[in-house]
Amino acid sequence: MNESSLPRPNNLDAFWMPFSDNRYFKANPRMIGRAEGMSYYTPEGREILDGTAGLWCCNAGHGRREIKEAIQKQAAILDYAPTFQLGHPIAFEAAARIAEMTPEGMDKVFFTNSGSESADTALKIALAYHKARGESSRVRLIGRERGYHGVGFGGMSVGGIGGNRKQFGALLPYVDHLPHTHGLKENLFAKGQPEQGAHLADALENLVALHGAETIAAVMVEPVAGSTGVLVPPKGYLQRLREICDKYGILLIFDEVITGFGRLGTNFGAERLGVVPDIMTMAKGLTNAAVPMGAVAVKNGVFDAIVNGAPAGIELFHGYTYSGHPLAAAAAIATLELHRAEDLPGRARALEPYWQEAAHSLRAAPHVVDIRDCGLIAGIELVSRPGAAGARAMEVFRRCFDDGVLIRVTGDIIALSPPLICEKPHVDRIMGTIDKAIRAAA
Ligand SMILES: Cc1ncc(COP(=O)(O)O)c(C=O)c1O
Repeated sequence: MNESSLPRPNNLDAFWMPFSDNRYFKANPRMIGRAEGMSYYTPEGREILDGTAGLWCCNAGHGRREIKEAIQKQAAILDYAPTFQLGHPIAFEAAARIAEMTPEGMDKVFFTNSGSESADTALKIALAYHKARGESSRVRLIGRERGYHGVGFGGMSVGGIGGNRKQFGALLPYVDHLPHTHGLKENLFAKGQPEQGAHLADALENLVALHGAETIAAVMVEPVAGSTGVLVPPKGYLQRLREICDKYGILLIFDEVITGFGRLGTNFGAERLGVVPDIMTMAKGLTNAAVPMGAVAVKNGVFDAIVNGAPAGIELFHGYTYSGHPLAAAAAIATLELHRAEDLPGRARALEPYWQEAAHSLRAAPHVVDIRDCGLIAGIELVSRPGAAGARAMEVFRRCFDDGVLIRVTGDIIALSPPLICEKPHVDRIMGTIDKAIRAAA
């Protein structure tokens, strides 16, 4: 494509950008014009290697022809039809494709439009499940410190990132949090799942003792926490959470918005980490981010309790105008077909050892205090500048962008998650550019 044909805005004022330093950006805009394969291109035509799959979502790489054509074809057949008391074939097909990939016995899929909506939907399903079974006292939702479950009131309340909560008042009642799993000295620079820390899951026993099991509906965690800076679960931790949930009749929800669709070398984190939850949220990689779509998969027993246990009529008073939108469904089917045909989870698995070694080679750079990885994710933690938390990593981000590599930073942690089509020379370039930027920013 001719770069000069790309649209150029002449007014940056109206768009209130999400999770952004609007004033800085508008004084120093960094624009993306187009994308292809592993790379973005600025409107001027400068290539930026994508070290983050957009926002953890373009797992199959950018500009995939198969996905684009599926969307175009569907737009010409059916632009939109509701899925309230009405159906269109492609939404059912997309749900069936997802159900083929989820763990056994988890065959029911509810569609949303984002990870945030998936998180809130999962929490509502958990509450409805207990109510349907006559346990209306189970209204308490448990999250984890440093968890991220999007920005709806449910996900934000159960989430554990102080900065995301502090502007918004009292949030949901009846919420509590497990401790995070970050920062154990013994785990610093661990490769893959760290050895220490399974005991941190026992904090759920304390919350049961405090509140009473009969008040607790669900526990929601990310299998690998991404947005808060790549926290990999200690070996045995998720297994322990599963055991305690089973012991007390508490539903376990995995937020797989990042870990789904090949990121950890398997379809879902549940498979890689060996623990099957009762409910799983997903979004992002589901459509390769080409059209917004999220989904919630539930175990058949959860569905049966709510749907088959209800009197005739609407069984769950929940849904979105765009649940199962035809263009999103078409994008999902094409994406999942690419996953299968190109074995994207297998590609991630094959690259993982190289990725891991390359990420850990940054240990030699100044100010690096920890490195973590799992699948094609890596977190590189830098020591903060005194009185200026986040400033060092933000400088590294800007230097990398100017040097042609997109990374993501949260506080002083660099979080990496390249498209799963990534190859060794891409890995070398990502890590080499970061190394140089860290040294320059020191
Ligand atoms: C684990 C997790 N849950 C939920 C979300 C929210 O997704 P969205 O931004 O699509 O609402 C994210 C986004 O990064 C996420 O990482």
